Amino acid sequence: MKAIDPCTLVFFGAGGNLSRRKLIPALFHLDMSQRLPEHLAILGCDITLREHDEWLKFVTDILREIHGAAIDEAALTRFCARLHYFAVPPGDDNAYLRLQTLLNDDPNFPPNIVYYMAVRPADYPNIVEKLGNVGLLKQKNGWRRVVIEKPFGYDLLSAQTLQASLYRHLDEPQIYRIDHYLGKGTVQNVMVFRFANLLLEPLWNHHYIDHVQITHSETLGVEGRADYYEGAGALRDMIQSHLLQLLALVAMEPPVTMSAEHLRDEKVKVLKAIRPITQNAVHAHAFRGQYASGTVNGQTVPGYLEEKNVARDSTTETYAAMKLFIDNWRWAGVPFYLRTGKRMAENSSAICIRFKTPPQDLLRRTRQGPPQPNWIMLGIQPNDCLKMEMQVKVPGLDLHTRTISLDATYRKDGDEDFDAYEGLLLDTIMGDHSLFLRIDEVEAAWRVVDPILKVWAMEREFINTYAAGSWGPRGTYRLFDRDDQFWRHSLDQDGANPQAY
Ligand code: BG6
Repeated sequence: MKAIDPCTLVFFGAGGNLSRRKLIPALFHLDMSQRLPEHLAILGCDITLREHDEWLKFVTDILREIHGAAIDEAALTRFCARLHYFAVPPGDDNAYLRLQTLLNDDPNFPPNIVYYMAVRPADYPNIVEKLGNVGLLKQKNGWRRVVIEKPFGYDLLSAQTLQASLYRHLDEPQIYRIDHYLGKGTVQNVMVFRFANLLLEPLWNHHYIDHVQITHSETLGVEGRADYYEGAGALRDMIQSHLLQLLALVAMEPPVTMSAEHLRDEKVKVLKAIRPITQNAVHAHAFRGQYASGTVNGQTVPGYLEEKNVARDSTTETYAAMKLFIDNWRWAGVPFYLRTGKRMAENSSAICIRFKTPPQDLLRRTRQGPPQPNWIMLGIQPNDCLKMEMQVKVPGLDLHTRTISLDATYRKDGDEDFDAYEGLLLDTIMGDHSLFLRIDEVEAAWRVVDPILKVWAMEREFINTYAAGSWGPRGTYRLFDRDDQFWRHSLDQDGANPQAY
């Protein structure tokens, strides 16, 4: 394992949702697994005044709730010794000078510093500006890195404006734009699957692949995040970031090496090759919907318009689907269908790749029904798995065929299980940019979705709805190029039998 520099992790928004749900549990788990350097201090910053003991209680309550009675007490004691708290009350102009004194003079804080922005996106430029003004971003006696959460802007122009404000105090190598999907094990497995197995490469192109589907569905609704979600919607929230990243990994050319720059060069090339959607083609390429009330896991749930802080006439989409084409030699003519939705029938993220049928249908006289294509499916969550569907002969005297699923699920009992944030936090500390977004990637992704956002922003009169607990609005099927294409909802059910809504 590579040696890790002693460092200080400074979290802005330390008492917020992301910290509580992801960052604090991730850091504790890394500490339990002996993955943190001995000299690593964690400084939580937030607008609330808190005594040190209150902060310790805040953190330990979170961890005890997750781990229950089985919590590793020795690890918890070690973890608590790393914790510090610093209040940055709004309007307190001297707070950043005091922070500078603390970080510079207190020997508890190693001089290499990661600043993690777990705050509202609107606060990123302000915090970076204040850190910069007091010299806390200068790499004099150690490195300084800044982690920026998504969304990076809300369209191309705002992303560029945000970028310009960061560049006033930071160089590109100091910036870590996080997309937590890249920290998921199965997402990284897309690269291993493609580049460590020669078998698939000859088939990975428009000669053999009929289309690719990338799905993220969740049963949860907006969950008290309407303040953010009303201005975002599903296209910005999931497709611009996570799903376009998955598309890039599936479709990119093999990089020269696995170095961060080579990897990101190839992802950018794919994103730039996506055929621009003109505004008058938006309806042929994109579909949106909003959940109405319905039943999820046996419980009646309210519709989006009845959720707290949602405008009664909101047309914010909670479901978005798109069809994209990548105009390069490998993918000419192959549709990539992307969809995401809240309050759907199941929690599921998966990449499903459908192959073409053989050029000559030799079994047409003996088989019942149309020829069945092969599928390769990469399940990202809830179960990470890898499956291939093939046709075999049914035992017996007749030449009947059926679909079987080769399950190459690779997780074994006892394999390590880390959350996406754990790997990404470690990468930040170690200075590895491979799984973080470069600014040209972010810009290219905004260019893909911007025309759709513009058209949808103008169409404020009407939005299709779907019942909570269903697989989304019906009209989404019009995106498919042919009648024999359909959404794969489940990785278990065979592809020959599309599920109903
Ligand atoms: C976040 C989105 O980036 O990803 C959320 O803002 C979404 O709306 C979440 O629920 C999904 O992430 P995961 O890891 O639960 O699939």
